[in-house]
Amino acid sequence: MFPLIKELLKMPADGREVEVRGWVRTKREMKNLCFVELNDGSCFAGIQCTFDLAADLSEENHRALSLAGTGASALVRGKLVPSPASGQAAELAAAGIRILGEAPAENLPASAGRSAINAYPLQKKRHSLEFLREIAHLRPRTNTFAAVARVRNRLAFAIHEFFQSRGFAWVHTPIITASDAEGAGAMFRVSTLEMEAPSENGGTFPDWSKDFFGKKTFLTVSGQLEAETYAAALSRVYTFGPTFRAENSNTTRHLAEFWMVEPEAAFAELDDNMDLAEDFLKSLFNTVLQDCAEDLAFFDERIEKGIIETLGSVGASKFTRMNYTDAVAELEKAFNSNSAVFEYKPFWGCDLQSEHEKFLTEQIAGGPVIVTDYPKEIKAFYMKQNDDGKTVRAMDVLVPRLGEIIGGSQREEDLGKLERRMAELGMDTQAYWWYLDLRRYGSVPHSGFGLGFERLIQYVTGMANIRDVIPYPRAAGQAEF
Ligand code: 4AD
Ligand code: MG
Repeated sequence: MFPLIKELLKMPADGREVEVRGWVRTKREMKNLCFVELNDGSCFAGIQCTFDLAADLSEENHRALSLAGTGASALVRGKLVPSPASGQAAELAAAGIRILGEAPAENLPASAGRSAINAYPLQKKRHSLEFLREIAHLRPRTNTFAAVARVRNRLAFAIHEFFQSRGFAWVHTPIITASDAEGAGAMFRVSTLEMEAPSENGGTFPDWSKDFFGKKTFLTVSGQLEAETYAAALSRVYTFGPTFRAENSNTTRHLAEFWMVEPEAAFAELDDNMDLAEDFLKSLFNTVLQDCAEDLAFFDERIEKGIIETLGSVGASKFTRMNYTDAVAELEKAFNSNSAVFEYKPFWGCDLQSEHEKFLTEQIAGGPVIVTDYPKEIKAFYMKQNDDGKTVRAMDVLVPRLGEIIGGSQREEDLGKLERRMAELGMDTQAYWWYLDLRRYGSVPHSGFGLGFERLIQYVTGMANIRDVIPYPRAAGQAEF
């Protein structure tokens, strides 16, 4: 295959003949020179192709140059030479150009054989992120979204590298499931039954036993329960895949479809789990700093000032750890002394709101915080119960700007305790027979956590809205593309 721009820019600019393929970002003319900047998305930078209009360029080349507007795809031939312009080591002394696909700068009426074409919407100017969300199929051609896509790709690979190098096996947990792993109830139904309104259906809801799977099924909210079964066999495993939540929350941190990474380790207690989460995040921060330097420089300049320095210092310092009781005491102190304004009054037993998480990370710790031992009432059924009868071995990793990025816990390995907790919560223990079997046969202490992949990308890029770090966001009322 022909070299990508990323590869060309690493070659010696010794006049070698090369071919570049990409999309035109800009075209400028100056005296007898025409500059076409081609970008192929392989790296942040494009390559400048300089045409000498005084040289004897063929009629065909002149025609192609006239069509080389923003967005057009082109193939340029020329010599790779040192660039006199600042900010780029090499450029192309171009000898020929071919347009592969035009992108009109103005609306074109329908003509024989094709429908009308609107002007290419990404003309050279700054576009709002809201506007770009409406053309999510074209936004990867912008600097911002191409950079997000490259960072996302690098992080996905780094996640596998991290776990694979530490003896964790990747397991593929099901997308369709009959169990609610989080007990949060925010699940999307999977069904092949005709969904008539109950009134047209003799006043009853569908008979789920006649459904495809013979029971109620949903899109998974987490692969954890199935991951636990494999951790109880392979010792260390992780999942990495899409998860679904029908939360009707229109926030900058929630999606209906998001990717989650869930490691699960047998013979691991909460401290091991915290150490793993901290090492994991730091290793990911260091990887992007090292391997996505150009993209991060862009985010630092245009999206979130200081992000490079923050990632560097967070990657090198210890995360603050505190238990929930101490965290709430800090919040109450700040609330009562009016040194913080909260919409929700903090109290022992409350679920931490994002304003509380922000305060803990930004004001108290000045960086990530791991909060442990939450009240059992606000956490999932499977968490290991502490001796105090009130709290569980939960851990949430909170970060400035975003709040929760990781949620996890040590799991309850005692059959009786787990059964009693499930009964208290009104859960059908029969339906979880296979999960409870892990506690019946060779039960071991084990722990794990879930990292929201999009929140990670938000954190390292500084992108404010989660809908801008996944190619095609799915949220309430939004399933275009
Ligand atoms: O805290 P959560 O709900 O934990 C679990 O699902 C556990 N089963 C994980 C485990 O222990 N294996 O979700 C984990 C993380 C959150 O910290 C957050 O980063 C992300 O998943 N997350 C979401 N990200 C985007 N949109 C949503 N609606 C999210 N809900 C959770
Ligand atoms: Mg959580």
